Amino acid sequence: MLKLKIIGNDDTVYDLEVEEGSTVMENAVRNGVPGIVAECGGACACATCHVYVDEEWFEKVGEPEPMEEDMLDFAVDLRANSRLSCQINMRPEFDGLTVRVPDEQG
Ligand code: FES
Repeated sequence: MLKLKIIGNDDTVYDLEVEEGSTVMENAVRNGVPGIVAECGGACACATCHVYVDEEWFEKVGEPEPMEEDMLDFAVDLRANSRLSCQINMRPEFDGLTVRVPDEQG
C-alpha cells in the first residue's frame, strides 16, 4: 500500500493508504473527497477531476501527456502544477504524494 494525501476543497485532509496502480481520482471518489466530480469516470474526457499537485511532488509526477493537456484547458483556475487526477496512477515512487482539490471544477 502507498500513502496518498488529498486535501478536499473544504480543506479536509484525507490521509489514505491506496493500492499501487489505482488512480488518484479513484481513491478520491472512493473516499468521498469533496470537489472531485470525475464526470467521465476516468476517460480523460471531462477535466472535473482537476487537482493541484504539491510543489514538492510536481517534478516527480511529471507533466501531463498531450491528451490530458488538451483536456486541462477546460479546467477552472489552471496552474502550473495542475493535473487530472484520473491520469495519475499510483506507483511506488509516488508514496506520500500530496494533491489539493481546487475550489471549483469546470
Ligand atoms: S475523470 Fe474525467 S478527466 Fe478525469
